[in-house]
Amino acid sequence: MKEQIEALRQRFESELQAAQNSDAVEKLRVAYLGKKGSVTDLLKGLKAVAGDQKKEMGQLINQLKHQVEEGIAQQVEAIRAAEEERLIASAEQYDVTLPVDQSEGSYHPITLVQRQLEEIFSSMGFTIEDYKEIVTDYECFEAVNIPKHHPARDMQDTYYLSNGQLLKTHTSAAQNAIMRKYGAPLRAVFPGRCFRNESTDACHENTFFQMEGLMIDKDISISNLIYFMKTMLSEVFERDITVRLRPGFFPFVEPGFELDISCLICGGEGCPSCKNSGWLELCPCGMIHPNVLKMGGIDPEEYTGFAFGLGLTRLAMMKYGIKDIRDLNSGNLKALSQFKHE
Ligand code: DAH
Repeated sequence: MKEQIEALRQRFESELQAAQNSDAVEKLRVAYLGKKGSVTDLLKGLKAVAGDQKKEMGQLINQLKHQVEEGIAQQVEAIRAAEEERLIASAEQYDVTLPVDQSEGSYHPITLVQRQLEEIFSSMGFTIEDYKEIVTDYECFEAVNIPKHHPARDMQDTYYLSNGQLLKTHTSAAQNAIMRKYGAPLRAVFPGRCFRNESTDACHENTFFQMEGLMIDKDISISNLIYFMKTMLSEVFERDITVRLRPGFFPFVEPGFELDISCLICGGEGCPSCKNSGWLELCPCGMIHPNVLKMGGIDPEEYTGFAFGLGLTRLAMMKYGIKDIRDLNSGNLKALSQFKHE
């Protein structure tokens, strides 16, 4: 029996060498230590061994069993380690000695203009308000004096949700909520993303940004409106800006105006950028309609105010000389990352 044990040991050693993956090692384990395995068979065969040799043979078989268990455990571990090595070697290699890329990210041109305006308006005592992009028909239209079937709605087609809500067409949609939140007196600006169902070209986008402003107090007049607009625009363009008002119709203001600035390119002489008029249309505005104040819970007998809807997208294009509005939503970093905070 001794020879049998020795032969099995040698066979095991050579088979273990050959078992180079976990499946093969498992097969080996079953073949030696399983219910019908060779080592188990040897143990069963002990019964037939003569009494005086039983002890010695028993010890030898147990030694072999122990050796097989050890050998299998070591082989399992060796295969696992080799697999780990292989994964590490095949993983992406990094050259840790490369210099760090120190190029900085940049803000979107609209963010830059928005932040600059927020700073200017806060310095003039205005609060900055945030508002939803999905609003009700009431907020977007009725509360700003555009009842159902009013022709002014034709100019502001938008995207409607199945629950009847819509993507706001202008930041004026927040006027009512802000008046209700703070009451009068009130000074607030509220930038926001707006949407219109439009076909796009170099000057039209279905998604753009505005900044709305409200100033409501006792005895607010058109002179206050002109003063604030002129001061704000001179700061934005970092030079003294001449403004003029032309009549303009918006249902939520009375009187309503288009505010123009003298052309920054030709200084008012007339050039292709201003269609030879010397003026650029920049900011619609007006004195808040009494109906709008009333719907906002403010007494129009006691308070008056002005409102404006500055086209942030337009302003960013003018400030940075961006010719195609579609570049702004393009996500094209080559075009968008060239603007930095001055
Ligand atoms: N909401 C208008 C639009 O998007 C712009 C506007 C005009 C806003 C006059 C105002 C305003 O606050 O007084 O076309």
